[in-house]
Amino acid sequence: MLLAQITDCHVTTADRKAYRIVDTGAALRRAVDALLALRPSPDAVIVTGDLAYDGRAEEYEVVARELGRLSVPVLAIPGNHDAREPFRAVLGRRFCPAEDPVFLQFSYELGGTVLIGLDTLLPGSDAGTLCPARLAWLERALAAARGRPVILALHHPPFATGIAHMDRIALTNAEDLERLVRGYGRVERVICGHVHRSVQTLWAGTLASIAPSTAHQVELALDPRAPSCFTLEPPGLHLHARLEGGGLVTHLLPLGEWPGPYRFAEYAA
Ligand SMILES: [Fe+2]
Ligand SMILES: [Fe+2]
Repeated sequence: MLLAQITDCHVTTADRKAYRIVDTGAALRRAVDALLALRPSPDAVIVTGDLAYDGRAEEYEVVARELGRLSVPVLAIPGNHDAREPFRAVLGRRFCPAEDPVFLQFSYELGGTVLIGLDTLLPGSDAGTLCPARLAWLERALAAARGRPVILALHHPPFATGIAHMDRIALTNAEDLERLVRGYGRVERVICGHVHRSVQTLWAGTLASIAPSTAHQVELALDPRAPSCFTLEPPGLHLHARLEGGGLVTHLLPLGEWPGPYRFAEYAA
């Protein structure tokens, strides 16, 4: 099982750049090119939120065109830059198999692993939350997973990263999610976006991670007084791979161009 994770595409329409600097449409195109070049191909791609820059239908049309180049299942959940109605109207069931009439949450079987996507969007806020209705849905989804390994995807991380201005807009009620994750006991990964950097930690007895953005990154600033800045350091994606022995490993693949590969045997002195 090979699950690719891209996140925080912040796609604008062609006439516009994100924050006047970032060509986020071109950045998503490069990410999709990299996904198409992967061998073996991923079995599925999860997009963990902030697909659009402003949550406009025209932006989701651009997203749908790019993601539509992939022939594997692509599953998306919203982030704080998204808006549910245009997200659902344009991306719809092709990219988000949500049954719920309001929340964009789904459970998807992927070669013996259950991929659960959560909707942490809180309209009007950059922070995220899981209200009682969404938590109750998750409880039912975990019960239906019946002990199989689960990968839980949500936009807002339930843990602090040390980047203070991002930690202030994380998941507001991580303790409610922690209770369910610990109660189930077989959540193998909690995979997030939102922070635009690759970050890992042990949380609720499992490995929780954040994937880098396909576009701009948030500056690595661990000084709590640091201003909120973005950089154009190399973007990337995460690959979650189930190995033959059963282990689940997470790789970071930067997106860009560099020399190589070189065969060690050929270049050994
Ligand atoms: Fe983002
Ligand atoms: Fe976000």
